[in-house]
Amino acid sequence: MQTRARSSQTIIELVQGDITHQDTDAIVNAANNSLLGGGGVDGAIHRAAGPQLLEETRTLGGCETGDAKISRGYRLKARYVVHAVGPVYRPNHPDVPRLLASAYRRSLEVAAEHDIHSIAFPSISTGVYGYPVAQAAPIAIATVCDFACSNPQFEIVRFVLFDSGTMRAFADALKHLIAQRPDLTDVS
Ligand code: APR
Repeated sequence: MQTRARSSQTIIELVQGDITHQDTDAIVNAANNSLLGGGGVDGAIHRAAGPQLLEETRTLGGCETGDAKISRGYRLKARYVVHAVGPVYRPNHPDVPRLLASAYRRSLEVAAEHDIHSIAFPSISTGVYGYPVAQAAPIAIATVCDFACSNPQFEIVRFVLFDSGTMRAFADALKHLIAQRPDLTDVS
């Protein structure tokens, strides 16, 4: 199973685990438009970061679907949390893939404005928001690689997948991307 690839200066890696345990400079939250917390990853990150996270996100004025905003990480190992809002899945709706890609890209654009060299993503929108992971994983992997692999600031981009089915979907997507991109080398 392909779980790690290298471009010139960036490692793209997949791990199965809990994103709140990651020691990357930033972790990405699968948030909702209110940025006031919720269940899933959002709930786990707010629980691990402590109440100061909500105190800060209250001041951010919400977040559009497909966009991302940054906060501090407080009690998390990560110094920053990038709150990204993915789309709620609607079959055959043209905006849905575009908004999912945008959530990943905006997360990296926001991270690039800060001293962030390593970042961990969850599988955005594939839980409560119902995005089939087989459709979401290729969008996630390609979007992140397009941006991060041409931006020397990012040394490590990690996807932290919570269950084996999601891990397998992302590993399959990474395998296909390695086959398509001569600049990517499998270093699993
Ligand atoms: N670490 C990593 N991944 C996790 C964790 C965790 N601690 N907890 C859940 N996940 C996984 C889920 O299994 C799923 O694969 O994150 C993925 C995204 O699921 P959700 O957290 O439900 O996020 P999403 O589908 O984007 O829905 C967002 O759910 O929690 C609410 O407030 C949130 O309204 C927003 C909506």
